Amino acid sequence: MVRRNVAAGRLHFTTDVEKAAHFGTVQFIAVGTPPDEDGSADMKYVTAAARNIGKYMTDYKVIVDKSTVPVGTADAVKAAVAEELKKRGVDTPFSVVSNPEFLKEGAAIDDFMKPDRIVVGCDDEQAALNMRALYAPFQRNHDRLIVMDVRSAELTKYAANAMLATRISFMNELANLAEKLGADIEQVRKGIGSDPRIGYDFLYAGAGYGGSCFPKDVKALIKTAATDAGIDMKVLNAVEAANDAQKHVLGAKVKARFGGDLAGKHFALWGLAFKANTDDMREATSREVIKDLLDAGATVTAYDPVAIAEAKHCFPNEPRITYADSQSAALDNADALVIVTEWKEFRSPDFNSLKAKLKHPLIFDGRNMYDPKLVRAMGIEYLAIGR
Ligand code: UDX
Repeated sequence: MVRRNVAAGRLHFTTDVEKAAHFGTVQFIAVGTPPDEDGSADMKYVTAAARNIGKYMTDYKVIVDKSTVPVGTADAVKAAVAEELKKRGVDTPFSVVSNPEFLKEGAAIDDFMKPDRIVVGCDDEQAALNMRALYAPFQRNHDRLIVMDVRSAELTKYAANAMLATRISFMNELANLAEKLGADIEQVRKGIGSDPRIGYDFLYAGAGYGGSCFPKDVKALIKTAATDAGIDMKVLNAVEAANDAQKHVLGAKVKARFGGDLAGKHFALWGLAFKANTDDMREATSREVIKDLLDAGATVTAYDPVAIAEAKHCFPNEPRITYADSQSAALDNADALVIVTEWKEFRSPDFNSLKAKLKHPLIFDGRNMYDPKLVRAMGIEYLAIGR
């Protein structure tokens, strides 16, 4: 996509800040906001970008915060730009807009091209008009643009991610309960998802959520609430604690099944990425599962369709982990199989050859990929999440 648009002359790249600030009315700030030591978002890249625009702009600009930023950032951006303009002794007009991004990794282009909603937070009509014109090609059959005040737009992004993380943590908690009570969380999921007020999406119990957004944004919202508003986010604190614990559920199951000590045991591990269709291992559950297995004395052979290079960075010089180049090869000499990521290609394995390869015909499934009845009927022991 990049190549096509560069070739057509629609897309250019530059490291020349001045040139970038002169190009176009709408200036997007889409830099990283990594977590600070205390969990709050580090704003130094956002502020630096804002200052650069202020340093060089010569006509009206709409400055858009695309980065996930705490409530109040638009005001900080406005102040930074105004300060740079003042230093230059000019009074060029500008607007600051919050336009949070809701795309998912692995579906970024699709989510961007066909958005459910385009949230635009702005305090003046001129900025709203510019944003409406910019997004006109993405409107499809009805108006996707939701214009609101800046602070509400900034909070919307965190609220969306926190709500989704809450659903997952709650389902995980219910799964842990279902398991103890002899119920099946997958059947419960269908039972409650059919209520349109609840819905089926993001209702899958598993070995915990990861990625660059949910863990970071939940932490940042807890932190902002405490420091800027004096509010203790009780539900969100629990969501975070539940997820931290959930990442150890798989490891605990493996240990419990083998009587606590995994010395001399070898495990095949399918899936390293924090979710399918990405090689991203930030806050990935696999990191915790692998650590738990190694700490208990085991060795691991891991397979992932794309994340192996990333895993080698996460576990440098770790002889207890080896990597296989196919899901089947990972099973060689393994005592049992542990599944951590919901890759499509893990959905229908050859259970007969899997059974023949494993020393114990045993699957620990952190993503509830299979029908327990079917797997058990094949003579394979199946330990999943909440079933
Ligand atoms: C998320 C939001 O979905 C997106 O709107 C926002 O812009 C960025 O953060 P992303 O981090 O790419 O996107 O991944 P997502 O598909 O939301 O999954 C996050 C994590 O939740 C994964 O670890 C996934 O395995 C887990 N998950 C998701 C569940 O455990 N259960 C579910 O039902 C859904």
